[in-house]
Amino acid sequence: MKWSTGALLMPPAFALLVAGAACSLPTAAPPPASPRVDLASVARGGVLYDKWWKEVEGASEPKGNHPLWASQSANKAKGGATWRCKECHGWDYKGKDGAYGKGSHYTGFPGVWDVAQKKSVAELAASLGDSANKHNAFTGFKSSEVTDLANFLKYGMVDMTKYVDYAAKKPIGGNAAQGKTSYNDLCAGCHGADGKDLNFGDAKKPEYVGTVARENPQEFLHKTWVGQPGSDPTMPSALVAGWSTQQVVDVLAYAQTLPEK
Ligand code: HEC
Ligand code: HEC
Repeated sequence: MKWSTGALLMPPAFALLVAGAACSLPTAAPPPASPRVDLASVARGGVLYDKWWKEVEGASEPKGNHPLWASQSANKAKGGATWRCKECHGWDYKGKDGAYGKGSHYTGFPGVWDVAQKKSVAELAASLGDSANKHNAFTGFKSSEVTDLANFLKYGMVDMTKYVDYAAKKPIGGNAAQGKTSYNDLCAGCHGADGKDLNFGDAKKPEYVGTVARENPQEFLHKTWVGQPGSDPTMPSALVAGWSTQQVVDVLAYAQTLPEK
């Protein structure tokens, strides 16, 4: 999905990127010099951020640890997990200054929030595409995928501290009744009205939409906003569907009322 700024048929989500910049979305409106924001690219960057090898053609889960992993010792994860952008930078994009500032996922690594406010898409892409930097040890991204990542960092990240009470793991200002309508429109078809049609865990330790919503609201917001890597059937992105951040927060509020078991 591509369009130009100023086009009459401005999709609602784009209008939101512009109008909502001051309050709901983090980043400034795209500068006039870059007239295109491709929401499908923004969302794809988001699923790559989650677990890129599920989406990148020909890629498979890395076996050893990411080369930067050895520079920390707090987080005991091994192998593939250490290669996920989210494992180092967080579901809330704030690294050590966010939800991963403590607990088993703590690494001490910085978030990507601040750098994304300061750098342009081109600068972010140049940084991520620099194969001489061992940060970018996975070199199998196409240049379009590096752009997807940069677009996500610039236009897709939401400031979750405004929408989630981290200590209580509850949405701030979520309207569960509104969320129910949105959930039934876009989610129930696959996940079921009670969220139990898809089990992400196993029979012994089931994990449903309601479980993720309660246990990890930041992860829930990220995945609902951009989609689920490698999902079959492909889970839609709320961002691409034209939802506002508020609608996603409302669905979080509703999903927290759905059964966990
Ligand atoms: C093993 C941990 C780790 C993983 C995985 C990781 N990063 Fe980073 N990232 C870091 C650290 C540490 C820094 C701080 C600067 C450095 O050491 O390169 C950083 C810096 C950055 C920066 C700032 C670069 C700049 O221009 O200043 C961006 C953007 C970034 N990471 C995005 C990503 C994306 C996107 C992914 C997934 C494709 C990712 N990171 C995966 C640890 C990680
Ligand atoms: C077209 C089908 C489809 C639709 C519609 C859909 N999803 Fe999904 N979703 C999936 C699939 C498939 C998975 C992955 C299941 C698995 O890994 O076992 C998934 C995974 C998830 C997960 C994360 C699981 C994890 O790994 O922790 C969440 C949260 C989620 N969906 C929420 C939603 C919400 C909220 C909506 C509506 C905005 C939605 N989904 C709409 C198919 C869908």
